Amino acid sequence: MKIISPTYILTPNAILESHSIVFDQKIVDILPTNDALQKYTNLEVIETKDNSLLMHGLINPHIHLEFSANKSSLKYGSFLPWLYSVIEKRDEVIGNCDTNCIEKTLDESLKSGTTTLGAISSYALDLEACSKAKSKVVFFNELIGSQAVMADTLYGDFIKRLDESKRCKSDSFFPAIAIHSPYSVHPILTKRAVSLAKEQNLALSAHFLESSAEKEWLQSSSGEFKKFFKDLLKSDTAVSDSIEFLDILKDKPTLLTHCGFVDEEHLNLIKKSSHHIVHCPISNRLLGNSLLDIDQIEKKEIPFSLGTDGKSSNYSLDMFEEYKTALFMHKDKDLESFAKDLIIKTNIDSAKALGLNTGSIDIGKDADLLLVNLDFEVNEDFFTHLILHKKDIEMVFVNGE
Ligand code: BEZ
Ligand code: FE2
Repeated sequence: MKIISPTYILTPNAILESHSIVFDQKIVDILPTNDALQKYTNLEVIETKDNSLLMHGLINPHIHLEFSANKSSLKYGSFLPWLYSVIEKRDEVIGNCDTNCIEKTLDESLKSGTTTLGAISSYALDLEACSKAKSKVVFFNELIGSQAVMADTLYGDFIKRLDESKRCKSDSFFPAIAIHSPYSVHPILTKRAVSLAKEQNLALSAHFLESSAEKEWLQSSSGEFKKFFKDLLKSDTAVSDSIEFLDILKDKPTLLTHCGFVDEEHLNLIKKSSHHIVHCPISNRLLGNSLLDIDQIEKKEIPFSLGTDGKSSNYSLDMFEEYKTALFMHKDKDLESFAKDLIIKTNIDSAKALGLNTGSIDIGKDADLLLVNLDFEVNEDFFTHLILHKKDIEMVFVNGE
């Protein structure tokens, strides 16, 4: 077992001083350092510097690693032009990120303090790297396809990828399912995937109401998606509407990413089904989408967390960068209490949504920890400063290693 005695320990309820944490794969004890020295012997001591902070590892529940090679290939500013650019440049962008590139991206994410990833995998090109990653990975095999004639082929390919990922299951790799979105997946496929997720107790994720174009298409088969579906998929009408989609998901709590265009009826259904919302403010800004109404989802007591989305719609996979952006974009939220919720509450809630025993420093939780050297004084605006200032992350532990 290991012991660490930093200057500060960040627990959900307090910032502890003169305390130690004893851990192996899990957090075994949190106690005053004086007591620890009497209670435990033969522990491996982890050295720390002055003004060090031990905090929970961060969770990024929504990322597309296969698109990590993108810098300026895709068109930003508005959703449909971006989607057309993804289709045009997909082979080039994906082809530029091999297993080595994905490993480097995983490393970059870990070093920025993310110990758990929800990786949305479209083609399983990231499976090898994710199954060997040092961070925890919930590996969401994505199902896509709105055309009924293609349903069996696409479902067969999805099952093959899912089965392959199940063979890699470990204490840090968790196979899971993603349904791309209500507009791009035929309801027959959505129903089959949801049944599977329920039967096999697999985490489930879906993009939901990301753009105004999606909202219009689902509502009335009109708007910017009209030409897209007519030209590329020979279709005139949406395969599903947003309420029908939520109805299929009603008995399976799901991570719903974006939700920028939800209304009161959606939120009531989301709450009733115990879904979780993943908010990606940088991606939403870059693709011209609307900002999530956090006050409204807090009023409904719907849990939410932040995610980076992929480098297909972000310049960074650093969760602190995402928190900082959220702090500036949600300018009407109280600064310090919102900063605290971003650091503490969103990580507890996303761990729960992913079905993992992580996200906070508590006895019995997995020892997924960050040791950070602070270069500022801890005061009543601690969470704001933790988000604002550049982090010197000295060590990262996943399952105590
Ligand atoms: C489809 O595969 O049907 C699809 C993919 C992306 C956007 C819309 C539809
Ligand atoms: Fe996404």
